[in-house]
Amino acid sequence: MIVSFISLALTGMTLKFSYTGWAALLSHLLGGYESAGYIHRFAAVIMIGLFISHVIDLVRQRRREYRTWRAFLFGPDSMLFNKKDLHDFIGNIKWFLGKGPRPSYGRWTYWEKFDYFAVFWGVFVIGSTGLMLWFPEFFTRFIPGSFLNVATIIHSDEALLAVGFIFTVHFFNTHLRPEKFPMDIVVFTGRMDLEEFKHDKPAEYEALVKSGQLEKHLVEAYPPIVIRAVRVFGWTALGIGFSIVVWIIYAMLFAYR
Ligand code: HEM
Repeated sequence: MIVSFISLALTGMTLKFSYTGWAALLSHLLGGYESAGYIHRFAAVIMIGLFISHVIDLVRQRRREYRTWRAFLFGPDSMLFNKKDLHDFIGNIKWFLGKGPRPSYGRWTYWEKFDYFAVFWGVFVIGSTGLMLWFPEFFTRFIPGSFLNVATIIHSDEALLAVGFIFTVHFFNTHLRPEKFPMDIVVFTGRMDLEEFKHDKPAEYEALVKSGQLEKHLVEAYPPIVIRAVRVFGWTALGIGFSIVVWIIYAMLFAYR
């Protein structure tokens, strides 16, 4: 997902900001604008494939672990927002202001849920408009040709929003906040120190202890070589993401057309 998103962002932004020197250099490195377009479509197929496989996986997970859709969608581990998220949000603002303790987060924090649905929505909007740009003859059998102009604006600006959000707000919330600085690698390893877990998701920790399930989840840490490889990948992704943000700010401030 990370590789496909970064490839889409890099190749998409070379088109969007094609009037900047950075875009000319990057497209040259990618083999020209035409080849950037091929990379864009190839990465798009991977992202759409991931989206479909995720939805299939959700249906399977529901069948395997939950008796009803209701339990799956509204249970304590659901990605859907609930009352606790509102309380956690208010509690977090108070904590920022030094007027209360850090909220006792459960399996998913409200900002993780927000990020999840932002991607869900983003893939749907960017993916559907991208397919219209890819197969214009097919889509104009059903919609007026002028809609393709609208699709270009939606695709381009929603992509800018997604890139801008992920490489700033998401990066900050996930990696740059003081508790995780400079990088949280749990997304790659699926593992974290028990002490860190207790602090990060206290409600989930307590629920696991109470139900006697904690032991089942304890595993050895990965060997240092694996952690190092993961960090190299993570730093590369962070580095490219931050560079794209600098490029966007430069293009907007000094070269916008
Ligand atoms: C997931 C499915 C996607 C598909 C099928 C798709 C397809 C396309 C197509 C066909 C174009 C027209 C340019 C060309 O012919 O090379 C395009 C342009 C573009 N794409 Fe995508 N894309 C997808 C996702 C994304 C994502 C995730 C981003 C960025 C995060 C993105 C950013 C852009 C940008 C910035 C442009 C240039 C638009 C402009 O001219 O202003 N695309 N895309």
